[in-house]
Amino acid sequence: MQRHLITSAIPYINGIKHLGNLVGSQLPADLYARYQRARGNEVLFLCATDEHGTPAELAAAKAGKPVAEYCAEMHKIQAEIAKGFRLSFDHFGRSSSPQNHALTQHFAGRLADADLIREVTEKQVYSNADGRFLPDRYIEGTCPNCGYDKARGDQCENCTKQLDPTDLIEPRSAVSGSTDLEVRETKHLYLRQSALKDDLNAWIDSKTDWPLLTTSIAKKWLHDGDGLQDRGITRDLDWGIPVRRGDADWPGMEGKVFYVWFDAPIEYIACAGEWSDAHGGADWERWWRTDKGADDVRYTQFMGKDNVPFHTLSFPATILGSGEPWKMVDHLKSFNYLNYDGGQFSTSQGRGVFMDQALEILPADYWRWWLLSNCPETSDSEFTWELFQQGVNKDLADVLGNFVSRVTKFCRSKFGEIVPKGGVYGDREETLIAELDARLTRYARMMDAMEVRKSAQELRAIWVAGNEYLQAAAPWATIKEDPETAAMQIRLGLNLISFYATLSAPFIPDAAQKMNTALQIEKAQWPSNASDALDSLPAGQSFAVPENLFAKISDEDRKDWQDRFAGGRA
Ligand code: 2FM
Ligand code: ZN
Repeated sequence: MQRHLITSAIPYINGIKHLGNLVGSQLPADLYARYQRARGNEVLFLCATDEHGTPAELAAAKAGKPVAEYCAEMHKIQAEIAKGFRLSFDHFGRSSSPQNHALTQHFAGRLADADLIREVTEKQVYSNADGRFLPDRYIEGTCPNCGYDKARGDQCENCTKQLDPTDLIEPRSAVSGSTDLEVRETKHLYLRQSALKDDLNAWIDSKTDWPLLTTSIAKKWLHDGDGLQDRGITRDLDWGIPVRRGDADWPGMEGKVFYVWFDAPIEYIACAGEWSDAHGGADWERWWRTDKGADDVRYTQFMGKDNVPFHTLSFPATILGSGEPWKMVDHLKSFNYLNYDGGQFSTSQGRGVFMDQALEILPADYWRWWLLSNCPETSDSEFTWELFQQGVNKDLADVLGNFVSRVTKFCRSKFGEIVPKGGVYGDREETLIAELDARLTRYARMMDAMEVRKSAQELRAIWVAGNEYLQAAAPWATIKEDPETAAMQIRLGLNLISFYATLSAPFIPDAAQKMNTALQIEKAQWPSNASDALDSLPAGQSFAVPENLFAKISDEDRKDWQDRFAGGRA
């Protein structure tokens, strides 16, 4: 049995996430976690809300609530929606947890002891109109690297370059738009990432199986001259983890907090501590400390491409610099962007479909299937209502749903709700089994490799093969001449449903559950080959015809939704 530690990039607390966020990290991470569990492996799947920083402060102010209260409420809301999408986190933590406070301060102490932190008196942008220091991402301007005119002070969204606000051309306050900015002096801590450049380089070089998207972004920022500058890890804010050196005060740092991007990835570790505390003190260190059993853990991270530099450079620098035996990521799966109807999904502009709205329209499986089978894996991809309607109607309703319905209803009408016996499988069945065997192997290989779209293609092909078989075998015709053979064909059909349930569960867990319930299967086993799997339902076992698994999306619905979402979210 393998052990898999899986984390998804932790979503910001300020508001409900859109489908582009979902498909870029949490959803594929869930697919992988469910798949690994189905293969009988031990999984710890963690996610959390990313609660610190100015976005949280500003969102709370806008909602007229104290920031701690706002975060607690939003965490509950996000957790509820995650459940709605069947995201199977073992724990959904909070970066503001006491565990993360302690661990973040611990890391800072270790880094300081290792002489990897220096104090810098620097000039920082103060906005007179807003009456506050402006954190990096609340200064906007033109990117010096690519010329994009809405680059933020921490990073350019367009070219992914990590920036300092003073790099921006024609800076303005993103809070008020004011250009009445002045520079004031303040003292901050810097992590000396540059001292770790060789270690990081060697570590990245050892990751020969990383996707090109991941490695190319990491290498770019490592080698592009200024790629690995020392990073400021503190901020002049009220909300966040107070700057301390382990358990001790940090003279001169009173009233300051750690930068959100310093404490957020540490939450991956702290979250395991939260999980442990919520589960009777389960041993979390065996997942995270290589001196306590984590050396045989395989750790996989999921994230959007904009998060890659932080996960390949900044967070590894924190871990390596600590000199402690923490588990480091083995595989880092990153995604491009999903666009919405010819533009970008945008939280600030309310553009696109948000997770709560999606679930109001249709159950999770519809979204899960479409988003995963169209995820922005090798390039950006596009959500349009037409594509969504086509994908759902064709794959889920016409192919899978229709197959399940035809087989079970035909069986009920001719043989009753009991698996019929019939004769042994013939040539047509053996040909199908051989095809499914090859596809099963390939499907597992693609899932192991986290090739999401190729996995979905293979699964779809597996569904299609069953449909084509049914069409060719035509038990409704066979039964007139040869009821014995028709019974065998239907027995195969029912076995196929069970096969589909197991293989499809990581993508569409609710439909899989319905299929298993209908067939009275309590604990599905991952098939070792198609031949055994398709001969596993004992003749004579009863079943119940399930309700239709999927309804088609009508043109009328599609148009309604198109209109409803065109205006953006308030
Ligand atoms: O981009 C984001 O949504 C960030 N909140 C991701 C943080 S991932 C990590 F480092 F914790
Ligand atoms: Zn740029």
